[in-house]
Amino acid sequence: MKIAPFGLKSKITLVFTLLFCFFQVCSSTILAIDYGTGFSKNSIIGPRTPLDVVLSQDSKRKDVSGIMIRPHVKDDIERGYGSNLLNFQLRFPHYVNIGLKRLLTDVSTYQSINPGVIIEDEDIIIKGKDFEVKYTFQELMAMDFNHIIHNANQQFGADKNKVAISGVNLGIDDLVLSVPRYFNQSQRMKLNDIVEISDFKQNLGFVDDNLATGISYIAKNHVKLENDTEDHFIVYDLGQGSLKVSLLTTLKNSSAILNKDEIVALNLELNGYGFNDHLGGDVFTLELRDLMMNKFLDKNTKYKKSTLLNNAKFLNKLTQSAEKCKLVLSANNEYKIFIESLIDDVDFKTSITRQEFENLIMSKYTEALIKPLDDALKSTTLFNRTDISLQNISSIILTGGSTRVPFVQQALVDYLGDDYYTLLSKSVNSDESVSSGLAIRGVKLENTFKFKQNINIIDKAINNYTVVENQSDFNLPIFAFGDVINDNKKVNFSLSEGQQNFSISLHENDQALKNYKIMFGNLKKCKTIDSNSSLELSFSINKSGIFSINKAHMICNQTSERVYDVEIDKYFIEPPMTGAELKKSQRVIKQLNEKDQQKVIIAEAMNLFESKLYESRSLLEGYESNTDIPKDLIEQLEAKINEHLEWLDYESDGCTLKEIEDKHMDISDKIRHINHYELSLKTPLDLSEFNGMVEALNSWLDDQDNVFEEQLNAVHERSEKFASLNITGTAWETFMNTPLTTRLITQNSTYYKMKSEIRDEFLPKLLNLLKDFENMDRIEKFNIKLEYMDLIENLEEMNRFLSDLFKYRLRYLDTVIVKKERQLLREYEKAKMEKVKELGLKDKNGNSVEDMMEKAHKRAEERERLEEEEFMKNTDGYDKENTEEEIELDEL
Ligand SMILES: *[C@@H]1O[C@H](CO)[C@@H](O)[C@H](O)[C@H]1NC(C)=O
Ligand SMILES: *[C@@H]1O[C@H](CO)[C@@H](O)[C@H](O)[C@H]1NC(C)=O
Ligand SMILES: *[C@@H]1O[C@H](CO)[C@@H](O)[C@H](O)[C@H]1NC(C)=O
Ligand SMILES: *[C@@H]1O[C@H](CO)[C@@H](O)[C@H](O)[C@H]1NC(C)=O
Ligand SMILES: *[C@@H]1O[C@H](CO)[C@@H](O)[C@H](O)[C@H]1NC(C)=O
Ligand SMILES: *[C@@H]1O[C@H](CO)[C@@H](O)[C@H](O)[C@H]1NC(C)=O
Ligand SMILES: *[C@@H]1O[C@H](CO)[C@@H](O)[C@H](O)[C@H]1NC(C)=O
Ligand SMILES: *[C@@H]1O[C@H](CO)[C@@H](O)[C@H](O)[C@H]1NC(C)=O
Ligand SMILES: *[C@@H]1O[C@H](CO)[C@@H](O)[C@H](O)[C@H]1NC(C)=O
Repeated sequence: MKIAPFGLKSKITLVFTLLFCFFQVCSSTILAIDYGTGFSKNSIIGPRTPLDVVLSQDSKRKDVSGIMIRPHVKDDIERGYGSNLLNFQLRFPHYVNIGLKRLLTDVSTYQSINPGVIIEDEDIIIKGKDFEVKYTFQELMAMDFNHIIHNANQQFGADKNKVAISGVNLGIDDLVLSVPRYFNQSQRMKLNDIVEISDFKQNLGFVDDNLATGISYIAKNHVKLENDTEDHFIVYDLGQGSLKVSLLTTLKNSSAILNKDEIVALNLELNGYGFNDHLGGDVFTLELRDLMMNKFLDKNTKYKKSTLLNNAKFLNKLTQSAEKCKLVLSANNEYKIFIESLIDDVDFKTSITRQEFENLIMSKYTEALIKPLDDALKSTTLFNRTDISLQNISSIILTGGSTRVPFVQQALVDYLGDDYYTLLSKSVNSDESVSSGLAIRGVKLENTFKFKQNINIIDKAINNYTVVENQSDFNLPIFAFGDVINDNKKVNFSLSEGQQNFSISLHENDQALKNYKIMFGNLKKCKTIDSNSSLELSFSINKSGIFSINKAHMICNQTSERVYDVEIDKYFIEPPMTGAELKKSQRVIKQLNEKDQQKVIIAEAMNLFESKLYESRSLLEGYESNTDIPKDLIEQLEAKINEHLEWLDYESDGCTLKEIEDKHMDISDKIRHINHYELSLKTPLDLSEFNGMVEALNSWLDDQDNVFEEQLNAVHERSEKFASLNITGTAWETFMNTPLTTRLITQNSTYYKMKSEIRDEFLPKLLNLLKDFENMDRIEKFNIKLEYMDLIENLEEMNRFLSDLFKYRLRYLDTVIVKKERQLLREYEKAKMEKVKELGLKDKNGNSVEDMMEKAHKRAEERERLEEEEFMKNTDGYDKENTEEEIELDEL
C-alpha cells in the first residue's frame, strides 16, 4: 500500500480569511513563529491583519533558520539570513550557522550539519583572517527572531517605507512560539532568555507544536463534530530534528455559553504523547551523506575518510546534495548526483536509488519511527483514558517535512495494518499547520480580539513535577504526568516552632532543578512561628512551561500573610541568564541593529547622491548650450561630477553619511550657483536697486532703536505703581529679567547675531560695492543681491520676534504687579476676617459671614494659582521636559 506524496499548495489563508474575525479592541499584532530545526514558518494575525503567512525576503512561505556573520569593512560585521545561507555555507563554512535550534537538543548533530563552526562552551566563535567575534547561541537565535520580525514588519507594518529605511519594529510586539511538549526546564529557560533579548515586548506563551496542528485541523473544520461527542485524532510530526506524536481529543460543547460573534465552542485536549528527540530528517540526510561519501571514496582512493571529515567545504557540499537527494527520492526512484569540484577540482558523479536509500535506513529506523506512536497510544492510561485506543482514532495527521519520505509512510502503514492504514491523513498542510494554529492560539492568549471559534486548550503535563523539603527526602508530587496544566496548585507545609526560614527544591522527573529559600524575618502579623503555623506555597507551570513557586503565604492564628522574601538560592541545572547578562546581550544586539540601520541610511544616501550626479550630468548639456554662462563655472561642475562618480565607484566603501552629504551639498551648491547666474541675467542690478538696499537696512536698524524707546516708555508708565507696591527691584529690572521660553532665548541670540551681521558686515560690504559699482562683476553684484534677499526674508521674522518678546515681558511685569496687589488685598481681608470672627457676624440668611469670606478667599487663591501655573508653563523655568518637546515641535 502506497500513499501519494502530499500536495504543497494550501488553501489555508483563504479559509481563515473567511472565518476571521471580530475584534473588540484594537491591539498589537501577533507574530506566530514555528521555529523549526531546518526552517521557520511564520504567521501573523491581528486586528488589522487577517491570518497570513510571513514571507521570506525571497517571497517563500518558509525561511531557512540560521544566521551568517562575516567580516565587513573596518572591524564591522555583516549579518545574513534566509535562503542565502545555503550558498554562503558552501563558500564560507565558518561564517554560517544553520539550524540553531539543534543547539537546544543535540549539539553533535549541530556540528555535523555545521562542520565549519567553532563552539566554545555555549559561545559560537566566528573567525576569519584578522577577525574574530564571539556570540552566545542565545544572541544568534534572538537575531534570527528579529530578522523574522523585520520581515513581518516589511510585509505588514503600518508604514512600510519607514520600516525599510529604519529597520525598526513598528508594532509587532507579541510572540507565540511553538515549543514541543517534551522540552525540559533547561531548554525552556534558554528559550525564555532568547525571547527576552529579542525585539518582542511580550511573550504570549510557548505552545506545543502538535496542539497547534490540532488547532488548525479543527479550525479548518476537517473533522465533522457532533454535539457533545468526542472525536480522537493523532498528530504525527516528523520534522528535521525530532519526532513527536500526540493523541488529541476534541469536543463540541453544545451547552457552552458563547460570546457574541462566536459560532462554536470546542475543546482540544491532550490524551496521549510520545516522542523521540533525535529522530528526524537530519538523521536521514546524514545517512545519505555518509553513503555518498563512501561512494566518493570508492572512486577516489587517494582520499582518506578522516581527512574528508575534517573538510568543512566538502562536507557542506555533500550535505546539501544529500538533502536534495532525500527530497527527490520522495517522488522519484533515482537521483543522479553531479557535484562540480567537490574537492580539489575533483568532480563527483554518481546515482542513488530509492531502494538503496531505504535499505540504508529501513532496518535501522523502522522501530524508532513507530515507538512514539505506540507510546502515545499506551500513555492514554497515564491520562486516565484507558477507553481510548487505536479503534477510537478518527485520523492520523501526518505533518513535518520528513513524513513525505515514502519509507516513513510505509512503516506507518505496515504498523497500522489493513484495518487502520486508511486513518493516515494528508489533509493538513504540513508546512503551515503549526504556525497558523499558533496564531489562532495567540489570539486567545492575547485576549483582546477574537477568533470566531472559541477553542479551549486542555494541555497536560508529560513529566512529573515534585518538590523536596530540605532535610527530608520525601518527594511530594505537585503536577503529575497527565495533570492538566492549570494556573496554580497550593500546598501547605507545616513548620516547627521558632523556624526562621524554609528551604525547598523543585524537581522535574527526579532531576533537581533549583532550590528556593523563603525567609520569615520580615513578617508583620505572623511574628512568632509556632507549631500551628504553616506555610502555604502556590506552584505554577507558567506560559513558558517553567515550573516555579508563584507566591508564599504564612498561615498563623487564622490569618494569612504574604511572604515576600522568596528567592532562588541555587540552581542544580544550568541557570538562566542573569539580569546583567540579559542587558549585555540586549545591548550587543541593539548596537548591531543600529549599525545595520546606519548602513541602510548610508546606502539610501548613496543612491540619492548617485542619481543627483546623473541628473546633474544632463543639466550640464543644457548649460553648455547657453553661451551667456561663463565657461569656467560649467567646467568646474563637470570636473566635480566626474570626481564624485569616480569616488562612488572606487572609494566610497565604509564612508560616513556626512561624507556623502557634503559631496551631495557641494554639487547642489554648484548647480544653484549656475542657476542664480542664469537668473541674474534677467535682473537690472543697477545702482538704484543697490541704493534701495542700503536705505532699507538702515531704516530697519533705526527701527530697532525706536522699539527700544517704545519699550522703555511702556515700562516707565508702570514703574511708579511698581515702586509703590514695595516690590523688590525696579520695574525695568523685572521686565528685563522675565524668565523666557527656550524658544525665545534661541530667537534672541539669532536676533543679535543677525543685527551685528547687518551692521558690521553686510552694510560695509554693500557700501564698498557702491564705491566702485561700475567696475564690479555682474556675478558679484548678483551674489550680494542674493545675500540681501536672504537677509530681508529673515528680518520679517526678527520683527515678529521682537514684538513677541516685548509682549511677553510686559505681560510678566503686569502679572507681578497684579500678584502683589492681590497679596496685599488678601492681607487686608484677612485682617478684616479676624475682626468678623471676633464679632461672629451672620448675613440675613443666617450664614456665617466668616465662612462665606473664607470660601471666596479660597476661590481667589485657587484662581491665582491656576493663572500663575498657566504662565509658568510657557516659560523656561517650569518644566524642562515640556519645553524640550516644544522645541522639537518647532523644528518640525
Ligand atoms: C534537557 O534536555 C537536553 C537535551 O536533551 C539535555 O541535554 C539536558 O541535560 C536536559 N536537562 C535537564 C535538566 O533535564
Ligand atoms: C448542537 O448544539 C447547538 C447549540 O446548543 C444547537 O443549536 C444545535 O441544534 C445542536 N445540533 C444538533 C445536531 O443537535
Ligand atoms: C461545556 O460548557 C459548560 C458551560 O460553560 C461547562 O460547564 C461544561 O463543563 C463544558 N463541558 C465540557 C466537557 O467542557
Ligand atoms: C472506543 O471504541 C470502543 C469499541 O468501539 C468503545 O467501546 C469505546 O467506548 C470507545 N471509546 C470512546 C472513548 O469512545
Ligand atoms: C487518574 O485517576 C486516579 C484515580 O481516580 C487519580 O488518582 C489520578 O489523579 C488521575 N490522574 C489524572 C491525570 O487525572
Ligand atoms: C511519573 O510518576 C509516575 C508515578 O510515580 C511514574 O510511574 C512515572 O514513571 C513518572 N514519569 C516520569 C517521566 O518520570
Ligand atoms: C493570636 O491572636 C490572639 C488574638 O488576637 C493573640 O492574643 C495571640 O497572641 C496570637 N498568637 C500568635 C502566636 O500570634
Ligand atoms: C511700603 O514700605 C513703606 C516703608 O516701609 C511703608 O510705609 C508703606 O506703607 C509700604 N507700602 C505698602 C503698600 O505696603
Ligand atoms: C539676548 O542676546 C544678547 C546678545 O547675545 C544677550 O546679551 C542677552 O542677554 C540676551 N537676552 C536674553 C534674555 O537671553
